[in-house]
Formats: sequence, C-alpha cells, structure tokens
Amino acid sequence: MCGIFGIVTEREQPLGPILIEAARRLTYRGYDSVGAATIRGSTVDLRKDVGRVDEVAARYNLAEMTGQRGITQLRWATFGEPSQVNAQPHLDSDGDIVGAHNGNVVNNVELRQLFMSEGLTVRSHNDGESCVHAVERYVNRGCSFVEAIRKAYDDLQGDYSYVVGRIDDDRLFAIKKGSGLVIGLGQGFNCISSDLPSILPLTRKIVRVLDGEIITLWADRVELRSVVDGSVIHREPETITETMDAVQKGGYPHFMLKEIHEQPQVAREVLHLLASSPEVDKVLDRIREARNVYFTGCGTSYHACLAGAVYFAQLAGKAVIPVVAPQFVPQYVPTLNAQDAGIFVSQSGETKDVLNALNAAETKGMTCFGLANVIGSTLTKTTAGWLPLCCGYEISVPATKTFTNQIVTFLFLAYRLGGRSTKELDSIPELMEHTIASVAPQVEAIAPQVNAWNDLYCLGYGSTYPMALEGALKLKEITYAHCEGMLSTEFKHGPLSAVSKGFPVLFAAGPEDVPLIVSGINEVTCRGGRAIVVGQEDSRLRANASDVIVIPGSNPQVASLLAVLPLQLLSYYMSVARGNDPDFPRNLSKTLTVD
Ligand code: F6R
Repeated sequence: MCGIFGIVTEREQPLGPILIEAARRLTYRGYDSVGAATIRGSTVDLRKDVGRVDEVAARYNLAEMTGQRGITQLRWATFGEPSQVNAQPHLDSDGDIVGAHNGNVVNNVELRQLFMSEGLTVRSHNDGESCVHAVERYVNRGCSFVEAIRKAYDDLQGDYSYVVGRIDDDRLFAIKKGSGLVIGLGQGFNCISSDLPSILPLTRKIVRVLDGEIITLWADRVELRSVVDGSVIHREPETITETMDAVQKGGYPHFMLKEIHEQPQVAREVLHLLASSPEVDKVLDRIREARNVYFTGCGTSYHACLAGAVYFAQLAGKAVIPVVAPQFVPQYVPTLNAQDAGIFVSQSGETKDVLNALNAAETKGMTCFGLANVIGSTLTKTTAGWLPLCCGYEISVPATKTFTNQIVTFLFLAYRLGGRSTKELDSIPELMEHTIASVAPQVEAIAPQVNAWNDLYCLGYGSTYPMALEGALKLKEITYAHCEGMLSTEFKHGPLSAVSKGFPVLFAAGPEDVPLIVSGINEVTCRGGRAIVVGQEDSRLRANASDVIVIPGSNPQVASLLAVLPLQLLSYYMSVARGNDPDFPRNLSKTLTVD
C-alpha cells in the first residue's frame, strides 16, 4: 500500500527535510522504494530508488532539495519489480509534469501500450507512471489540468489516488478514487497526503477528500471539484485533536480492529488486481494440467489453503491437496516430480517452514507459485510466479485482512478455473461491510459471557471447516484461552464429553449444511451447553441454537468467507475484555523465520 505526500508553499524554499519527514511518517504502510521531486520554476528535481527512507535520503541527499512544490512517495511494488526506474514519482514524456500515485491502476498493461503507440515516452512498468501519462495526453490536447484529470479518470481503471504538478505553475493537483487522501491546511502552505500522520506535524486543520473529487492546491487556498461535472464542492475544514498514536490506528483502539474494518476495501483492491493480472492465467494453466496440486502454508495461511482446496473442488472440480508446510516435506516431497504444481501461501513471504517446503519442492522440479502480502519477500523472489495480496502493512500480529484476501484470491482462482464469471464476486466487499457492521454489537455483547470459559470449541463443516479452525486460532492467539477448531461431525467422537451446563460451543454454518449443523447444535444444547451459531438467517438455526449471529445471504463459498468475520471480532472483544493487547499477544511474532 503505497503512500503519497505533496506540498505547495508560497515561495521557493528548502523542501527536502519536510519530504523526508513526511515519507518517514508513511512507512507504517509498508514500502520497498522511496522518491522525492521538487519543482523550482522550470526545473524538476527528481531523486528516487529502492531502499529505506533514511538510506535513500542519505544516498541522494534528499535533504538539500528545494522548490516551491514537492512530492514524495513510498512505493509498495505491485506493477513492476522494485527498482529505481519503477520507483515514484514519475515524469511525463518531456519531463515537465511530475506525479506519483497510491493504489492500483488495473488496466496498466493496456494503457502503457496505448501511450507508447501514441509516441509518449514510457520509462517504467509502474502504474504510477500511467497516471502521469494519462493526464499528459489531455494536457497535450489543450485541456486545462483539471479537465485533463477528469478525462483521465475514465481511462484509469482501479482504486487509486495521485498527485501531480508541472513546471512554471504554482499548483499541485490530485484526485481520489478508492485510495485515501487528506488535505492539510497550513500557514503559507497547503499539503495533501494518503494519510494523516504525514500531515499532522505540519498542521491539524484538515479537509477529508471523498472519492471522485479533484483537488487543486495553491499555497493559500484549495479547491475541490467533482470529477463527474467539474462543479466546485464546498467542505468545511476540521481540526484533528487526537494523539498521533490514535491517528495511526485510524481512530480504532487497536490495529487489529482497524485491520478487521479494512477487509472490505482490501478485498475490493485484490479483486480489481486479479481481474487484470496476467499471472492468474499463468498459474491456472499450470494447475489445470498438473498431476497433483498442493496448497501449502502455516497457521492462518494454512487455513486459507484448506479453504482454497474446498473451493477448487466445489467450484472447479479440481482436487487439491492442502498441507501444513512442515508436513509437506516428509509426506509429499518424496512423491513429487515435474508434473506437480503448488501454491505456497504466506503473508510475510518469509516463514521458514514455508520456505523449507518451497526449496524442497523446487529441488524435485515441482512448479511453485506464491501468494504473499510482502512484495520483495523471499517467497516472491524465488517462485515461478506469485500473486500479491494487496493488503498493505498488517501491523497487528493476528492475521485478519491478509487471511480474507487469501480467501478472496482462492475464490477468484476457483471461479476462473471452473469457467464461472468472477463478476459474481464483485459483491464481496459490500457483503463484508454489511457483515462487520451488523454483527459487531451482538458479538461484543456475547464476548464477556464466553470469556467466563477457558476451554472452547469452534466447529464447521465443508467450506466453513477452515473458518472454524481460523476462528479457534484467533481465539487462542489473543485471548490465551484454549479453543479447538474441528469438523462439527467429529465433535461427537470424543470432545462432546467436555460439555457441561453453559459450556459454549461456536458453530460456523454454511447454508447447505444446516441440517448437519443442527444435529451438532442439539448434541450440545441437550447436555446443557450453549451453541452460538454464525450462519445465514434460517428458522432451523433460530429454533435450535442458543444464539444466532446472522450473516447476509450469499452462496456457500462466499458465506464461508463472511462467517470468519464474526469469529475475528469475537476473539478481538474477548481479548480486550481480558485486558490483553490483541495487537501484540505474548510469546508470538509476526514473522517466524526459524524452524
Ligand atoms: C495467526 C498468524 C500465524 C501466521 C503464520 C504464518 O494469526 O498470523 O498463524 O499465519 O505464522 O505466517 P505467514 O502467513 O507470514 O507465513
């Protein structure tokens, strides 16, 4: 998740230190490259490269940069490898327009070809450069800058925001479409950024930008216009009073809750990216013809592998073997050959257990693909191809948004492999939004009651089985209670003896598995236990369960994705009620680089 910052001042002045500090304050979003540009009269000073902010700042002496306008950008690679040429900001063909973006332009490949065929100078593979050329094209045809941005809006598909300016002018321009953008109003300057932390050291007076708005920034005023009809929009500034820590958490008390709420948006972004990614066909072509296919990961990522295998079977009729990475080595590596293929799943891309399995599989000639969040991680560098999870930085140790985007990606791949229209999946972000908003109060109310117990079970069946395992893992991880996830039908084969009066058992019910789940519920309730069920509205669940947490209607596979959201929230509220810090649970680390 890249970050951008732009500033317009009254007159030429040292801007380097301001840009470096703004970039530092955006690093929490995750990045692999850093760049800065200043505009002084008819010159653009552009310095950028791969590396940490302080490294790049020192290597290129960013501190000495001066100008009347400045832009800095932190890049998190999605289109184009991390490299100097792909780092942002970017210049237009003749170097008099400079700009940088945040987000994903999903038709970047097609746009680059169009720009080159029209004779524009395309230097990189990065989609931020496409934003600059998209504006340049219309400026070249005589449009005003705002008009050019309005026209370019129809050409640039995806979720993004960008900031752009040109020589011999005194303004910067920006637009928001999906990715965050906030204006800071200062004394003798105005600035704009992807997020508040880079603005607040400069000013606490801000204007929040909404999707479809074009911003013109002068040093002493700003103007917002609608991209639809160009009309001027009036919005009163607000004053931010929260501490920086609170601001970084986006107003949420913990990163985990913030990341839970970010899930619909990152799902939207990954769906856009997958729809235009050439890697998808590459992965699926190989999987289609493979002898055996394996999905491999650890912890939460392994649960995504389990779900992926269910979706591939149910939606594409393709059998896949999901396996925990360390067990893959003794159990499957001896059988592998070059006809086999697999997807190695890891948020960090650095989990040693996963990399060990990957190395062993590659030695046997298996085709290995990656599904990772951290671009530039070992997994993304060593596999035959990989798909990004597009979640930005996941700060909280318990994985939430990276898990649901792993699930969304597997759903997308299964739909494609099964020849189904992936358009059906476009409703997922809204369904997720609706689920989170509607279940949160009920889940928060149940949490203290469940907290009275230190032993719990979380049961599912079919596509909700992996979600039950994931719900149980989240609970263990951040409440420190014991919670076992299992197939609902297995409960009667032993664990049922644990049920006593009030003993809570969580169920995730898929819409097609209600009769089976109802049997499981009754086994619990008739022994005095409390059956708390996550499922779609259903009179059979209402009649039998102690509590029903209702998720919106959808097909069984999407329902399984939605079912995990209340379980994430339950673990969060229980953890907080126990006085734990859900973001940094004891004994755990976000990335496990040891055997
Ligand atoms: C649980 C969690 C861990 C990770 C596991 C694998 O919330 O985060 O179980 O899923 O350590 O990590 P990655 O996905 O980075 O390989």
